[in-house]
Parts: sequence; structure tokens; C-alpha cells
Amino acid sequence: MEKKWWHDAIIYQVYLRSFNDSNHDGIGDLQGVIDRLDYLERLGVNAIWISPHYDSPMDDNGYDVRDFFKVSEDYGTVDDFKRLVKAAHARGIKVLTDLVLNHTSDEHPWFQAAKDPTHKDHKRYKDYYIWHDGQIKADGTKTLPTQWVSWFGGPVWQYVAALDQYYLHIFSKKMPDLNWRNQNMKNDMKAMIQWWVEIGVDGFRVDASNHLEKNWDFPDAKPGYEHFSSLPKHHEYLQELGREIFKPNDLLIIGEAGGASKAEALQYAGHDSEEFDLLIQFEHCWADSDDNNVLTPGKWAKGMIDLPKIKHSFAKWIEVFDKKGYHTLYWHNHDQPRIVSHYGHDQTYHEKSAKMLAYTLYLLPGIPIVYYGEEIGMTNVDYTELDQFRDVEVFTEYKNFIANGASHNMALKALKDRSRDNARTPMQWDDDAYGGFSTVQPWIDVNQNKAWINVKQQEHQTDSILNTYKTLLSLRKEEDIPNAQVRFIDIDNPRTFFVHIKAKHHAYYVLANFKSETISVALPTDIKDYTLFLSNTEQLSKTEHFGAYEARIYRKKN
Ligand code: GLC
Ligand code: CA
Repeated sequence: MEKKWWHDAIIYQVYLRSFNDSNHDGIGDLQGVIDRLDYLERLGVNAIWISPHYDSPMDDNGYDVRDFFKVSEDYGTVDDFKRLVKAAHARGIKVLTDLVLNHTSDEHPWFQAAKDPTHKDHKRYKDYYIWHDGQIKADGTKTLPTQWVSWFGGPVWQYVAALDQYYLHIFSKKMPDLNWRNQNMKNDMKAMIQWWVEIGVDGFRVDASNHLEKNWDFPDAKPGYEHFSSLPKHHEYLQELGREIFKPNDLLIIGEAGGASKAEALQYAGHDSEEFDLLIQFEHCWADSDDNNVLTPGKWAKGMIDLPKIKHSFAKWIEVFDKKGYHTLYWHNHDQPRIVSHYGHDQTYHEKSAKMLAYTLYLLPGIPIVYYGEEIGMTNVDYTELDQFRDVEVFTEYKNFIANGASHNMALKALKDRSRDNARTPMQWDDDAYGGFSTVQPWIDVNQNKAWINVKQQEHQTDSILNTYKTLLSLRKEEDIPNAQVRFIDIDNPRTFFVHIKAKHHAYYVLANFKSETISVALPTDIKDYTLFLSNTEQLSKTEHFGAYEARIYRKKN
């Protein structure tokens, strides 16, 4: 396979709204990112993916685009964006943006024309979206076309009286789904993508990419996901974009397809795929769900961690892409809880478990995506009131929990464990009133643990979580870790994470205790040939006892 610029990419995901506020209005912005490029360069990052920067009413923090050709006033201007690209490129940092293809905002001019039969462009734009008549029940009353349930909870259909029809929205009702069977719409989208490529974007993360096709027979079902997710025809749309825009421009394209199968994954991102280069699929992200919880069910129910499930998932995906593509390596993104709260311990063992999670992930092959704040061990929210949350999904699901019979406290607990806001609080740069993110009250509350979890303090501490990330990310480059060979050892052990890595210059053993109790680990007999390279505890021996969240990396020269 020919060498691509992104084969040694270390990507950092910037949640724009929460990263750095340069003009003190409480909202992160593009200039704020420019101001922190030095920090990102020092961290060892050579690509950033920024969450949607487009003009938007912000029902879903910018995934609801009102104007694709404009930057949100919250974030700056197209000129600011150009300056960001220039400043990043000057430091050898590539810029990826989010590309939202599945839907627009209901405030997008296309939808404004589509929903209004008197609008001069109504005819052209109505078919850009997906409409359906209501069902007439036996008693003559009208009801929704189907009982399909949106990803944010609640029906996927919204009634428009002027048309006496419903439009489809698989996310919030302010995000009508686009009709990818409409050639004019596709052409408009292609022109838009090309426009950003000309501005200098190096790639895209294609949002909700497995949802573009729907079952146009609209069979009834509840929740009905199989009728609006992963339908075969969506690959045709992606291939068309790949052939015409992605490949000819040498872009890095990262797709998002939660729950993809092995075959689908290769179809998306195998070496010979015309669609993507990398795929995000989330399989390891929900290995601690409690299936018996009916009050706050599904991803909202936190149970015991099934560690073998996490390891098997990594092993499986590394194998799927071995020689056939590139594996994508990440703990989480802006849609999941913070990793140290999720799979680590965000109190007593905060620092130790955050480092343990870094050791275990960042020696694995693949292209890594570090999520902002992960590198200092930012945690889930410390909120006590419902009105501290901001995410549109929180409010639909809160209602569902209460309707299921959950108490307010149970519902709040589920939100504090699992909601997407956990991963969206302001970056903790220092211990100032607003964590150095802004000088005014931010759009979403800063976590008060900024007093002891922040960049400033960790930059000074040599063995901090931040400096551990720097060490591991630079090791990835020196050792060509993206192409390393990995072997999982004792993979079904529910307490340990144990891998052997064969890299360019050294072989490594990574051993970690994922539990808060001391355990003993049978060390391999050849460990005597290895020396301790990194450890998250003071004690530096080859003892088989591993304290709570203890992790060690041993290595020997090849
Ligand atoms: C993706 C995004 C998520 C967003 C949704 C709708 O899953 O990651 O944040 O809400 O798509 O655009
Ligand atoms: Ca701002």
C-alpha cells in the first residue's frame, strides 16, 4: 500500500465549544484553537479534528447545520477558519472537520422552502427531505406514519400542518433527515464539500455516516433502527463521494458507523474501499451496561465492567484491519462518558487509573484519536441539578426515565454516569474560576475538580498524566506503533490487561490491573530479559503483585 500522510497521524479531537474561549463570551472558538496550537504541538499531535464549526441554531451543538458555507458566529468567521488552517499547517498539524451529511437544521434554507408550500423554491427543496402521510386509524384520527424511535428518544416523525405531512428526523426534531436519493441535493452537498477542500481542509470525520439510506417502504416497527441504519444503499452514496471528492483530493476520511460488522467495516475502510480510510465503531465503549435495568435502560445503565469484552473488541478490530486497512484507536469521543470515570476510577485512583488507561490503549497498533482533556484525565460532570446539563438528548431521555418509573435521583444518576455532557465540559487549563477556559461563566459549567485536574499543574509535574501522554505519543512515532504486532495474553482474565507488542526497535509487555483491589499476575518467564520502562506506581520491581489500577510497561531491544 502506498504511504499516505495520515499513516503516522496522531489525531486530537477538539470539541470546539469547550476547548478555549478567546473573546470571553463563554464559548470556545476558532481563535481559541489557534491560541492553543503550541500546546497541541508540544503534546505530539499532528492532526486535529474539530467538531462542527458551521452556522447553526445549536440544538445539537452544531450537528444541526443552518448554513454550510458560514462559520457559526459563536466560533468566528470563514477567515478565522482559514487562519486556523494556515497556523496549523505551519506547525505540521493537519485539520479535519466534521462533515454532517445525514441531516440539516430545520432552520436551513432548504428546509424552510421544503416545509412551506407557498415558498418560491418549495418544489425543488421539498424532496431534499423525507416526508410521509400520517396513518388514519379506524376511528378516523390521524397518527404517526410509523412508531420508529429517534436516537435521542421519542418519535422520528414531526407534523407540518401546512403540508399535512410528517418529516423524518432520526435525531432531534430540529434535525430533519436529508433524502440521499435526490440528485440535486447530492450535487449541492458535493459542491459544499469541495468548497471546504479548497479552503484547505485535510480530511473529514463523516458524521452519522451509516444512516444516509432509509427503508422507503416505511414498514412499522419499534424502535425500527434497522429501517434507518446501515441499509446497503448508503455505501453507494459514500462511494460516489469517495470517487469524486475524497480520493482525488487525498483526504483522510473517518467514518462513523456504530455497531458495524467486520464485513461492513472493511467495506467502509479496507485498503481498496472507495469510501473511508478509518472507521469509528464504538464496540469497546459500552462494556459496562446493565442489561437488567429497565428504568434507565440501554447505554444509560451502568453495571460492572466486562473487561474481556473490551480486550476482545480491540483484538478483533486490530485483526480485521491487519494488512487490510488501518485500525482506529480511541477510548471515546464527545458522545460517551469520560474514560477515567467510565473504565477507571475518578476519585482515589484518578491519576493512577488515567495513566493505566493510557498505557493500555496507546501501545496498540492503529491510528489514535485523543479526545480533548483525556490527556489530563478530565472526568465526568460534578453536577447536582438537571438544569446544569445542556445536551438535547438529556432532556428527551430524562422524560423517558421518569415515565419508566425512575425517581429524579435515579434519572440524575444515569445522566451523571452516561450523558454526553460528561465529555463536553470546558477544558481545564488552570485552576482559575472558569478553569482558564474563559474569564466569564461558560455555556456549560466547568467541573470544580479543575482545582486539581488542569494543564498548568500537570505541565510542571514530570510524571503527570499529561507528560505520560507526551511520552506515549512520541513513542508511537519512534517505534512505528501503528504497524506494531500485538498479542493479547490471558485475554479472558476479567481483571488484567496484558499484551505483548512487537514494535520497530523494541518488544514490550504492557500489564495492567483494571480493578481497585490488589491482584497477582503470572509474569511471563522471559520477563527477566525485559526492563521496566514505565510504571504508574512508585514501586519499581518485577513483583507479580499489582496494586489498584497499577500498570507497567516492560521492554527489551529487538
Ligand atoms: C453523531 C455525532 C453526535 C450527533 C449525531 C447527530 O453521532 O457524533 O454528536 O448528535 O451524530 O448529528
Ligand atoms: Ca468565544
